[in-house]
Amino acid sequence: MNFLFEKGGEAIAVLVFKGAEKVSEANDLYSFVKERKLFEGKAGEVYSSPGNGKDVILLGLGEEYKLDYQVLRKAFYSLGKEAGRLKLESIGVHIPKFEDKCYGKTLKAVSEGLIQSQYSFDKYKSKSDQRVYLKEIYLQVKDDNLEKAKNVVSETQILMEGVFLTRDLVNEPAINMYPEVLAERAVDSLAPLGVKVDVFGKEKIEELGMKAFLAVSKGSEKEPQFIVMKYQGDPDSNEKLALVGKGLTYDSGGYCLKPADSMAAMHTDMAGAASVIGAMYSIAKAGLKKNVTAIVAACENMISGGAYKTGDIIGSMSGKTIEIGNTDAEGRVTLADALWYAATVENADRIVDLATLTGACVVALGSVNTGAITNNDKFMEEIKVASTLAGEPVWELPHDEEYMELFKSDFADLKNTGGRWAGAITAGLFLREFVNDKPWVHLDIAGTSHLSNPMGYLPKGATGIPVKTLFYLVKDM
Ligand code: BES
Ligand code: MN
Ligand code: ZN
Repeated sequence: MNFLFEKGGEAIAVLVFKGAEKVSEANDLYSFVKERKLFEGKAGEVYSSPGNGKDVILLGLGEEYKLDYQVLRKAFYSLGKEAGRLKLESIGVHIPKFEDKCYGKTLKAVSEGLIQSQYSFDKYKSKSDQRVYLKEIYLQVKDDNLEKAKNVVSETQILMEGVFLTRDLVNEPAINMYPEVLAERAVDSLAPLGVKVDVFGKEKIEELGMKAFLAVSKGSEKEPQFIVMKYQGDPDSNEKLALVGKGLTYDSGGYCLKPADSMAAMHTDMAGAASVIGAMYSIAKAGLKKNVTAIVAACENMISGGAYKTGDIIGSMSGKTIEIGNTDAEGRVTLADALWYAATVENADRIVDLATLTGACVVALGSVNTGAITNNDKFMEEIKVASTLAGEPVWELPHDEEYMELFKSDFADLKNTGGRWAGAITAGLFLREFVNDKPWVHLDIAGTSHLSNPMGYLPKGATGIPVKTLFYLVKDM
């Protein structure tokens, strides 16, 4: 999709607030459809009038006082979908300065919404659905903002490439997406952008003493891979953020086998890993002047004669021992070593982890909010600012010390399960034991990284959440 900053397009879109008296372009059409109650201007509503050489699409923005960037994203997503339905390859739209709204953020939301409408994962369909993609978007922007507008839109394009990369990785079925493939995809997409990617196989993982990570991987025929991706956008600074992503390319539950329905989407249990790869892609391509290291411990949680079992007491790179109460609570066990590596070997100043960690988080927050836990309120504040900017809501969960009682073990330092209650919290606090007191935020994306039904501008399947949040966090830190 190409953005051009001039007049043009096979069709023009006309923006309409709900109940507007008149509109600046195509007012005759608007009066006609308004009178007949064919179009009211509700947020995301479209009315198109094809033909006569130039198509017009009326695009509703809802009530003016309710306008925000999320409404804009959704509305322009609808516009993109409508253009597809009309088989248009280009559209033009004039972007006004909305009262109380930042023009740059408006352009970001507009371009993002349009780009969002173009995503599909159809590589496995033998008959393609003859879909027409938007090739050109003609944006008429305020003249004095032209350079800034171009920069803002090109940044959004780069950001959305990262989001789409993440979605493609997550949507890929486990038959074709196992640890070695994930590592290869990380190398292929990041190395050309100057990111240094190191991939460690089983032998090196053993050497590093990652007993916890290895224990989870033992049931699978696929070799585990430890992937370290380093981006040095600010070589003069020692400061470094670590992004650690859960990388279970398949989670059967292990001997605590999941029921069939719960297992169905478990090829997406590497969404955290895919998010850090997508975020690194956008961060590097945009050339952000920050240092970021992304870390993924990739493996499968499977069943075999060699698989780990309940009651096992295993070691970890940190030296702490872990009693396995449930083989399906495997994500935290792999992350224990990945986080410890980030905090010590990498010696990162701050750590964010992203993980499809618990069903309990989905029960609590559904698919709307990502759950979060921190050991540092200031850092959490920064994440919240970034997530608001991104339109990817985050809800902080409590971390009272009393919760720690729940995953005490009688025979080891810790147990990997905390029982039925407060599952998202105990899982998060388990991770905290492995960050060596570094400022840390955990994001549980079990509900938000993958959807069973489309929501707003997000498609069914992988959403790419929270790539945008990570990008803005790094950009503004
Ligand atoms: N990968 C799952 C969590 C998950 C659930 C992700 C639903 C996406 C959607 C995780 O490994 C898991 O199985 N967690 C268990 C933990 C329990 C055994 C303590 C869970 O949430 O049931
Ligand atoms: Mn599991
Ligand atoms: Zn899992």
